[in-house]
Amino acid sequence: MNGNRAAELLRERFGRGPELIVARAPGRVNLIGEHTDYNEGYVLPFAIDRYTEVAVRPRTDRVVRVYSAAVDETLSMELPLRNPKPQGRWSDYLVGILQGFSELRPFPHGFDAAIWGNVPLGAGLSSSASLEVAFAVALVQLYGLELDGLELVRLCQRAEAGFVGMPCGIMDQYTAYFGEAGHALFLDTRALEHRAVPLDLEGMALVVVDSSVRRALAGSGYALRRRECEEAARWLSRRFPGRGIRTLRDVDGAMLEMVRGEMPGTLWRRARHVVEENARVLATVDALEKGDSDEVGRLLTVSHASLRDLFEVSIPEIDFLVDWGLEHGAAGARLVGGGFGGVTLHLVAAELREKYVAEIKKAYWERFRIEAKAVEVRPGSGAKYERDLGHR
Ligand code: GLA
Repeated sequence: MNGNRAAELLRERFGRGPELIVARAPGRVNLIGEHTDYNEGYVLPFAIDRYTEVAVRPRTDRVVRVYSAAVDETLSMELPLRNPKPQGRWSDYLVGILQGFSELRPFPHGFDAAIWGNVPLGAGLSSSASLEVAFAVALVQLYGLELDGLELVRLCQRAEAGFVGMPCGIMDQYTAYFGEAGHALFLDTRALEHRAVPLDLEGMALVVVDSSVRRALAGSGYALRRRECEEAARWLSRRFPGRGIRTLRDVDGAMLEMVRGEMPGTLWRRARHVVEENARVLATVDALEKGDSDEVGRLLTVSHASLRDLFEVSIPEIDFLVDWGLEHGAAGARLVGGGFGGVTLHLVAAELREKYVAEIKKAYWERFRIEAKAVEVRPGSGAKYERDLGHR
């Protein structure tokens, strides 16, 4: 681990002091498997080489101070937290995590912390999960807590879904913790087990283009989709009693064919996306293992069409970037993350990368007068920490 910008910030803001701990956790790109994780399905994300770093140092009193470089603000609190409520601010993620830990064990003392990161915020690259996981890893080390990786991941997800109020699945936090350099994680979100799949498509580059659109709907639209999926699963379990349907993971294409026209249309489309997207994850793992980039690209594109038409979480700006890509040599392209804005992923011949990025930005500007941003990412590793003894 190098960098330690968070450690420098901590010293700058709160002065020099005894040994500190620096934890780091990455953002992610989801190759495929969108809106499947909260339906106990499959996903295929990879951690990226962009991170949030959290440096922490114990205090002798019960005060907590956290400086965030992204917003240039310091949060101050005193432990124990008394019935905290979310404020709709960046600090909610941290308070949610603190709250989760304090249910396990009261904190014996406070701490000073500083946060630095280079995951674009709110872009669909999971800056929030990278913050949660980095903060949680730092606290586990600071207080010497006994918590395994999966417990930590679940605590972070609960902080976001329960405290912050964004009812996310587990993919982002899981990837931030368990990501492996050079690999995607083929994760079964029901079993909570993964296999690392080498992400090595010879001669091809994964290009991330940020639409720069941040939609308020991202939270409410996401929550609505989640409720629709649960409703669809309930409908299907009533229609097919005895088939053990608990979530859309338990549904197959044949069942959906039988109830086409009978099931409420919106629920049917949501279910069909999820059932087919799960199958596409399995097919993508297969294609990756065979090094078949054409097939990977095709699956990405079909996934996008399904997110646009069946799951209805795309927007015109995102569709434009995807369509432009497909018309200009991309082997595949799709939106990434929850939808309603954020980034797109394009599978492009590596030698065309620069030209492709320059031209797509130009075309996007001409069409919407919005600047798209290319985000350089490589598959990076999951969470890490180190004790920083130097520069006292
Ligand atoms: C967000 C959520 C994830 C997942 C994706 C959609 O990133 O945090 O849990 O549901 O959207 O695939």
